Amino acid sequence: MKELNIISGIKQYRSEVDTNFHMPGHKGKHGILEEIGNNLSFYDITETLGTDNLHYPTGFLKDAMDYIAKTYGTKKSYMVVNGTSCGIISSIMACTNPGDKIIVQRDCHKSVYNACILGDLKLYYLYPEFNKKHGLNFSISLEKLEHMLIDNPDVKMVVLTYPTFYGICFDVKKAAEIVHKYGKILMIDEAHGSHLHFCSELLPPSAESSGADIVTQSTHKTLPCLTQGSILHICSDRVNTSNIESMLRIFQTTSPSYILMASIENAVYWMNKYGEARLKKNIEEFKKRTLELRSMGINVLEDEFLISEGCYDFDATRAVISMSELGITGTELQEMLRYNYKIQMEFADLQYTVGYITATDEVEDIDRLFDAVKEIYLRESKNKEKREIVEIEPFPQLQHERKMRKAFYAENELIDFDDAIGRTSAEFIIPYPPGIPVVCPGEIITQDIVDYVKVMIENNINVNGVDKNNHVRVVVR
Ligand SMILES: Cc1ncc(COP(=O)(O)O)c(C=O)c1O
Repeated sequence: MKELNIISGIKQYRSEVDTNFHMPGHKGKHGILEEIGNNLSFYDITETLGTDNLHYPTGFLKDAMDYIAKTYGTKKSYMVVNGTSCGIISSIMACTNPGDKIIVQRDCHKSVYNACILGDLKLYYLYPEFNKKHGLNFSISLEKLEHMLIDNPDVKMVVLTYPTFYGICFDVKKAAEIVHKYGKILMIDEAHGSHLHFCSELLPPSAESSGADIVTQSTHKTLPCLTQGSILHICSDRVNTSNIESMLRIFQTTSPSYILMASIENAVYWMNKYGEARLKKNIEEFKKRTLELRSMGINVLEDEFLISEGCYDFDATRAVISMSELGITGTELQEMLRYNYKIQMEFADLQYTVGYITATDEVEDIDRLFDAVKEIYLRESKNKEKREIVEIEPFPQLQHERKMRKAFYAENELIDFDDAIGRTSAEFIIPYPPGIPVVCPGEIITQDIVDYVKVMIENNINVNGVDKNNHVRVVVR
């Protein structure tokens, strides 16, 4: 066995990749983290005399959070040291009591479901509008949202994802108006949107400026911040901040990393100084190259095109590329980029490979990606043996047979996935990334689901919840 496995593993990874389009958003560039990074043990302090306390901030941690709130124009902003997952769980549990009902977008992140297990909540699903032609969820229907609010007047809150992992956006301002018309709280999971605020001219509006009551952001995904750094914004008086603070005190460590917190503030500061100009430069290059590739017939998503196809808006810092018409899956394209060009994307599904472009990227990085995509396309389009990629529709309409929490805690057994049809799942079944459950505890496993998940596994997509022996955990009958 090797010693220092993690250090040598990371060194190996770094030697294999020289351009990355995955988080964290700092991409190791511009010396943004140099001051902290070069003095790690100096900055690694704890809560003691004069160093403030994240759970009851009155000193420089409070000043940092006030600075963040001022930057984003919110009522209050909290640094979160355990990712947006923690911000989401804390927010949902702060706005609900055990047994309450909430409306959630079905393709939300698993942390929303985890909050429902912990809080014993009943969910009503708002299914995303799946666009078959593009194999993509075109976000949500606000008409359907309004009907759900009319039909379920006792829900406590609405939780929506904006933008999605693929950069797709809905009309968040209108969504807020609808939710508020029925007196409910709108929480937006803006894990992928910390940067929107910094380039309002070229990007969709941020949720925090559009009427959302609570916004949770993964600062580490799209801003130059260390992994796990996140922010929870409170943007209206509809939210009880002392409930939020109580929940954050439950779900956050009592030993928050000062290095991480310094990097959250530092990322916001750096974006205030350089973010807009750098994002503009990168978005312009991205658009120019996208149009060039699209004119050659390469499917790179672009906002005007998507809007013309019925999508509301698109975050033009998301590189979403498909060569499915050549019979190349998103996972295969991701592997070609990685092993032939040393470019690593954030994730891939059957159809698309997806990468983050952040303010820290250089125009040359974007060109490297697009040059590689162009070369792959020109080479592969000469290949006569084209395969059909299986077309599948995500999220078969699932209903809860049991409450999620009850199923999660029920007596359960491991059985073969093929024998699980008709059984109640005791676990999440989640392609990862992006971490959106196909099946949640309490849902019935159907033939459609088994077929869908098998196609994913055959295409090298990681699916949590189905083990190496093809077993899944179901509730004992
Ligand atoms: C839409 C969405 N929400 C929330 C999260 C959780 O964020 P974090 O990893 O910061 O906990 C993710 C992570 O991928 C996500 O994609």
